[in-house]
Formats: sequence, C-alpha cells, structure tokens
Amino acid sequence: MNTSLSGLPARGLHPFDVARAIFESRFLARHRPFWVNIELTHRCNLRCSFCDKRGTGEMTASEAQRLLSDLRACGTASVCFDGGEPLVHPHIEDIVAHAKGLGLRVALSTNGTLLPQHRKILSNVDAVKVSIDGPLPIHDAGRGEGAFARALEGARVATRAGVPVALRMTLARHNVGHWRAVMDLAQQLGVVALFQPAMGSVMDSSREASDHSADGADCRKAMDEIAGCKGEGGPIGNEYVCLEHLRRWPEATRVEHCAGGRVEVAIGPDGSMFPCGRVGRGEPAPNALKEGVARAFARVRRPEGCEQCWCTLTLGNCYLYGLDLRLLRGRVPFLTRDATE
Ligand SMILES: C[S@@+](CC[C@H](N)C(=O)[O-])C[C@H]1O[C@@H](n2cnc3c(N)ncnc32)[C@H](O)[C@@H]1O
Repeated sequence: MNTSLSGLPARGLHPFDVARAIFESRFLARHRPFWVNIELTHRCNLRCSFCDKRGTGEMTASEAQRLLSDLRACGTASVCFDGGEPLVHPHIEDIVAHAKGLGLRVALSTNGTLLPQHRKILSNVDAVKVSIDGPLPIHDAGRGEGAFARALEGARVATRAGVPVALRMTLARHNVGHWRAVMDLAQQLGVVALFQPAMGSVMDSSREASDHSADGADCRKAMDEIAGCKGEGGPIGNEYVCLEHLRRWPEATRVEHCAGGRVEVAIGPDGSMFPCGRVGRGEPAPNALKEGVARAFARVRRPEGCEQCWCTLTLGNCYLYGLDLRLLRGRVPFLTRDATE
C-alpha cells in the first residue's frame, strides 16, 4: 500500500517541494499557500447530525477557475476540494479539470455518495477522502438513510479507477464505539482509515464540544485502541503523534508550530481566506476573490500556539511544519507527506 506520512498517498506532490515550502516558511519567513483547502460550496446533499459547515454559499465556475490560476501563480502545489459537498457543485468536473491542467495536485473531500455519477472526474484526481462514520446503521443514523451504501460504492468506484482513497471517520457520541468497523472496511478495500473527533462546531472553533460530541474519555479510549491497532499493522493513516494529540480532546492542547497561514490556508465559498478549515470563522477575513490571493495571503491570520487543532490532516501538517521527529515513528521515508485538508 502506497501511503505517505499522513496516510494519504503522496501521488502528485514531490517530497522535495514539500520540504522546500516548509523550510522557506520556517527559516526564511517566505510563506506561501502551498496546501489549499477550497470549500467550493457550502451546499450539501446530506444533513449530518454533527456538521454545521453547510449553507447556500457557492463559488461560480469562473470565480473558482480564476482563484485556481491565481493560487498557482502564488506557489500553490496542492488543492483539496471540500464543502459542503464539492460534488454538488454544478461545474465540479470543469473546475477539477482546470486545477489539474494548471499542474496542481488535486484531492477531493467528499461524502462519496455522488462519486459514481461523477466517475469521469477521477482521471483528474490524485486522492479522495470519503467520510465513513461506522457500519451501515450507525453511518446512516448520522448521515441519513442510504448514505452508507452510496458512500461505499463511491469509495469502490475511486479505488477501481486507481485513485488512492482514505476513509475518514468523525468520532461523535453516536459512533465512537464503532471505529473498528471503519478500519475493517478500509482493510477490505485496501485503503487507509483516518480518525478525528467531532468538534462542537466546524464553523466556530471556540465551541469545543456539543451534545453530539463524544465524551473525552470515550474518545481517548478509541484513540488509544486505534494506536494499538496501528502498531499491529492496521491500515490507520493518522500518525502516532496525531493520535497522541487527539486522545487529549477536548482539553486545550497546544500546537507549537502552526502551518495555518504559513504553508496552508482554507478558502470559503465567498473567497474568504482562513488559516485552516476550522480556525478564524466568524472573524473578519481577507478575501482571495476580491483582493487576489497574494494580498489576501499577506493578511491572513497566522495563529500562534493554537489549542484547537482537531482535524487530523491539518494537525499532521502542523507537526510536519514543526519538523517533529515523532512523525518518523513507524514510517520511512521522511517528507513524503501529502495532506491537503
Ligand atoms: C465538512 S465535511 C465536507 C466534505 C464532505 N461533505 C464530507 O462529508 O466528507 C469534511 C469533514 O468534516 C467532518 N466533520 C463534520 N462535522 C464535524 C465536526 N463537528 N467535527 C469534526 N469534523 C466534522 C466530516 O465528517 C467530514 O469528514
């Protein structure tokens, strides 16, 4: 299995480019939006019980294409199309093709349900994250009836097309005890599984827990078991250092070197630019569509000592940005990471 440090395959990105972007940012203060998460739309075809990243905002196709060209000119190497649900965007195929045509590494963060009808897109995609939150009844309890079967078919379509897939499970109150089913599924599909806790809100990082969040003790138990399973060769994509961090959820846990606003940014449907997918929502933010990427990036917030990093891929980026040697545990070679969130 071809996995990188993040558990996502490194296809489409050269380790040297990753190392250079981090080195220039860390030691020369030459930051650039190397990894970019683009929330093309906040519309979604599912109503997940624990998710509040949905609404009506949507970038037009021409805005998205302009943004991608601008990002490329500003040093972006890798984009992940996120949402809402990116596959509900009416021009997703053209937008993804445009990104690929620019030479960007392209990832998709999706609930998977619409992948079968968009299979054409996969020829321009380097990695797919499909959300799976447990076995059928548990997944459907959180995401709606029929969602599991369609997500699974989506993951299968992607693997059959030769695109590397990661199953991403968000551990909430209703599913925290079911992580093993997701790992088993990953094993059957020959892909990796990623785990992260359900925060109180993905649009307000100050709300640490809500009714839907798992208890800290249950989350800790799951993360410890997941780490044990990884040690026995389970297809777990989270780095050990991330599992160690995530087991402390929801206690404020500091990240010493935040990649946000330095080598990573997230861009909302209206062009607002944030340091990552979780932090800075609800605050005035620079706008990459109105001001252009270079100006927006110069003003984007650069968090110091962030204590709210609970997304496992962003967290992995931060530990990599911090050149944390604990990332090496169980893994060689170093710097093959490719974890756009
Ligand atoms: C906002 S969704 C967008 C992409 C796509 N619609 C999907 O469901 O994967 C991206 C990821 O955020 C996760 N997510 C949603 N609500 C969350 C929460 N409250 N805390 C942590 N992660 C959450 C989802 O499970 C999903 O894996």
